[in-house]
Amino acid sequence: MDKDTPYHVDGPVPETPGSGEYPNPWKKTEVVGTRVPKVDGYERVSGTAVYPHDVSLPDMLHGAILRCPHAHARVLKVDISRAEKMPGVQAVLTGESPGADMPWYWRRGKSFSKLFDPHCRHEGEEVAAVAAETPLQAFDAIKAIEVEYEVLPFVIDDEAALDPSAPAVHDSGNAVGEPSVRERGDIAAGFAEADVVVERTYRTKCEIHAPMEPHGSVARWDGNRLTIWDSTQGVYSVQETMAQAMGLPLANVRVIGHYMGGGFGSKLEVGKYTIYAALMAKMTGRPVKIFLPREDCMLVTGNRPGNMMQVKIGARSDGTLTAIDFKSLGSPGAYSAGAGATSMAVYLYTCPNLRAEDTVVYTNAGKARPMRAPGFPQCAWALEQAMDELAQKLDICPIELRLKNIAKELQTEQAMPFTSNELAECLRKGAAEFGWSKARKADPADGHLRRGVGVAACFWGYGGGPPSTVIVKLYSDGSVNLNMGASDIGCGTKTWAAMIVAEELGVAVDKIQIEHADTGTTQYATSSGGSKTVPSDSPAVRAAAYQVKRQLMEMAAEQLEVEESDLELHDLEISSRSDSEKKVAVTDLGKLGRQGVVIGTGYREPNPEGKITFPYAAQFCEVEVNTRTGEVKLLRFLGAHDSGRVLNRLTYDNQVFGGMVMGVGLGMTEERVLDKQTGKMANANLHDYKIPTMKDVAAEHFCVPIDIPDTEFNTTGTKGLGEPATIPTAAAIANAVADAIGVRVTDSPITPVQLVGLLTERKEA
Ligand code: MOS
Repeated sequence: MDKDTPYHVDGPVPETPGSGEYPNPWKKTEVVGTRVPKVDGYERVSGTAVYPHDVSLPDMLHGAILRCPHAHARVLKVDISRAEKMPGVQAVLTGESPGADMPWYWRRGKSFSKLFDPHCRHEGEEVAAVAAETPLQAFDAIKAIEVEYEVLPFVIDDEAALDPSAPAVHDSGNAVGEPSVRERGDIAAGFAEADVVVERTYRTKCEIHAPMEPHGSVARWDGNRLTIWDSTQGVYSVQETMAQAMGLPLANVRVIGHYMGGGFGSKLEVGKYTIYAALMAKMTGRPVKIFLPREDCMLVTGNRPGNMMQVKIGARSDGTLTAIDFKSLGSPGAYSAGAGATSMAVYLYTCPNLRAEDTVVYTNAGKARPMRAPGFPQCAWALEQAMDELAQKLDICPIELRLKNIAKELQTEQAMPFTSNELAECLRKGAAEFGWSKARKADPADGHLRRGVGVAACFWGYGGGPPSTVIVKLYSDGSVNLNMGASDIGCGTKTWAAMIVAEELGVAVDKIQIEHADTGTTQYATSSGGSKTVPSDSPAVRAAAYQVKRQLMEMAAEQLEVEESDLELHDLEISSRSDSEKKVAVTDLGKLGRQGVVIGTGYREPNPEGKITFPYAAQFCEVEVNTRTGEVKLLRFLGAHDSGRVLNRLTYDNQVFGGMVMGVGLGMTEERVLDKQTGKMANANLHDYKIPTMKDVAAEHFCVPIDIPDTEFNTTGTKGLGEPATIPTAAAIANAVADAIGVRVTDSPITPVQLVGLLTERKEA
């Protein structure tokens, strides 16, 4: 969809590494689809899990980073002489240090900054780093570095940045290439055909990922071998970047990421701090740990750009869409990471005449990184509100309007069929379980408390696929070792993987030991992002377990002298279907005893050719609006999701609820505030930056899985869930507020101050 997201594949899809024999889709399952608590739940809640932030090595030094305090400045001079003499200081790193003069921040192969760039394009850009015996000594030492800055004029407003007279963030200007345009049909003709047109401008605010665990790494050298513990979504991507930066063969870089405390997309790319830790570890011959303070995380580890979206949408009186004109403006801050917001509008609904234009502009602000469905929640905020208003004008139920227009294929030049699209089921079943018709008709409560309900729909633009390799080993005592490269970023990756092995081999989930996310010891996987970990890696897990099962069956057939096809495996016992006398415990297989272990290697099969796969969702909410105070109370939230087969109902529900909570942030509480006079972030802390809490989220949450396996897509029938869970949430809230009080809130977040203002405006009008 957006070429600047890290999981975008340009050109042919990646190859699966092995020619494979792949299992057929499951007919019936016993473990898969049930509710299994996280296999590492105890470790996570008891504090025994070692997160990268907990890693402490003998002789380890602690790093700190000096950052530019200005929104835009040029570093004229850095004097480290005083810092070098500070207590405990072992290394001071600047752009002049050996190995530190390297390019940084790329867009389509071209770099446009440096590891330490004297041109600081936003508050928080890196100027120097220090390693000392203790963290406090390191923080003291960076304060002793004397820097002379030439402070430059800055621009933080997206629209202002487009003006040719605006301060230039880069020498080449502020435009990130030409606006990208996608077009089909003829929108002028489409609008001429329309009986009703809705035209409005919507805005979303910039959001910060704010994961619980800050960003950071520990680096240690053993000769010319570098080991990194990193809070990351993908160890193999860190390995690749670090090998390139350090001039090392891939094999010499080991990256370990067993636990990590959340990323939401902000931990898909390597941070400069990882390089600093490696360089200072080399300088000192000691391990170096750098974890960023919370404030630094909020300044430099990414954000979801705010977007300004101008939408015009037309339909015939029966609700058939005739034209969509969707323009977006967004900024990835000072360095490109994509800030488009039109993709969902291009493909969600059937519309023969469409024009979508994304304008992206540099500003003197922290760089964006992908954040849980980059571009999509913004697009949903505008598109799904416009659809709602269209339904109102046409006097059609908003659910009916959506059902009427669901895309039947991917509307590209060569239309591509979907492997599955159950959005209609999401809307119908979701509405039924929510009690939509009744709630929609219910009279508003008396006086100043008004109730309303809203709905919004979405798809998510990535499916997943190869490559992925997994190894499963079964030992002679029946215990099992599962080895996979994927990171478990908190969604329960290890748990569903163990459930799949349990399903195939008929062993208990707790018999399975898991090795994962370590480039030194585990198999290859792509980063956990794009909602594609389950659909990319679960078929490889299944294939590996299946290979083990095949070998066990072969051994049993030989030992029992029966046909393999007559055998079944259950609770670590293989028995004949036709002769109940003939059975053998897996642990009694003679050949297994002699071999010691059975190994199965599983590969992710290729995706079907000429088809495309997306997950879908519809979310419903009920609000109560206090027209005196402008407060919005969320009463109920329901998510109906088409993510293919449900692997673990417990973690499935939690993904949906977590996504909704994050969507409440976009819709109601979160906003990065940049000070107009200084260009600096005014709320770079978790007190003033408002992540939703228990008091902000809905009193009741419901999850309705549309549990229909997509058997054409892969051998587990799964599609992604993590991102769709947050895409329609904010739009559903805005639609419910509009239903409650008849006021359209076009700008996120819906705050009491804003609502009171809009209600007052209406009264005066
Ligand atoms: Mo996500 S934004 O792919 O972690």
